[in-house]
Amino acid sequence: MTYQTLLVEQAGAVGLVTLNRPEALNAINTQLIDELNQVLDGFERDAAIGCVLITGSAKAFAAGADVKEMAPLCFPGTYLDDFLGRWDRVAQRRKPIIAAVAGHALGGGFELALMCDFIIAADTARFGLPEVKLGVIPGAGGVQRLTRLVGRAKAMEMLLSGRSMDATEAERCGVVARVVPAAELLEEAMDSASRIAGQSRTAVMMLKECVNRVDDGSLGEGLRFERRMFQAVFATPDQKEGMGAFIEKRKPVFGR
Ligand code: CAA
Repeated sequence: MTYQTLLVEQAGAVGLVTLNRPEALNAINTQLIDELNQVLDGFERDAAIGCVLITGSAKAFAAGADVKEMAPLCFPGTYLDDFLGRWDRVAQRRKPIIAAVAGHALGGGFELALMCDFIIAADTARFGLPEVKLGVIPGAGGVQRLTRLVGRAKAMEMLLSGRSMDATEAERCGVVARVVPAAELLEEAMDSASRIAGQSRTAVMMLKECVNRVDDGSLGEGLRFERRMFQAVFATPDQKEGMGAFIEKRKPVFGR
């Protein structure tokens, strides 16, 4: 299957998606988000895939939603068509998704990275939500996700001024998991994705659900949910294999 806006590969148990609109610094248009959802649907169904990695180019992960596509839009058209509504499906995926970011991750590009489970950044990465400079506001979850990550003061300052931050600042305030030299970004991110894909599928997906509960509800509800998931994991063969392998001093072999 070929796509107009994406390059898609499988490396072992990792599904690799490269955003590919170099002429527009990977600006995300409707076609790109539809193709991305199609690819992610396939990966969700594919038992051979344990982790997904989304990346862009050395210059840009993605420089935003496509301004040229958005410029003529009007309300109520945006409302009736639920413009950007389909983007959030990326965040609803059950398998883990890593964003490997080099260069610009701005506006919708940053929002896409924030929908992933974590970001590994090249030292060239820049993150920002500059929508205010275009007379609009972010609409794909960036305000909610950034504010939860960095707190009200920094989120307000960035959002109201449109200022972007470099990779060092992004790591310091918890936006990215790790910063690596640009030349090593893909290798490091693939390494991380392969390690995740090699774990127990059940445990990984349960962990993702548990971490997502942190944002969704109260601490009490999160603790109860985590404990239930922990109890449920004892119904899986992976628990027997993982603990058995530890006791027998060998590497575990997990099923799906
Ligand atoms: N949409 C459409 N096209 C874009 C784009 C975008 N978000 N970002 C860059 N491009 C295009 C440029 O128009 C240019 O195309 P042409 O050669 O046809 O003119 C090409 O990509 C290269 O860009 P530049 O010449 O501007 O490259 P640069 O290196 O000088 O600057 C940049 C890079 C600072 C990232 C600059 O391109 C820029 O500011 N881009 C827009 C960033 C932005 O405002 N993003 C937020 C968009 S709104 C949004 O995302 C809403 C939402 O919440 C979902």
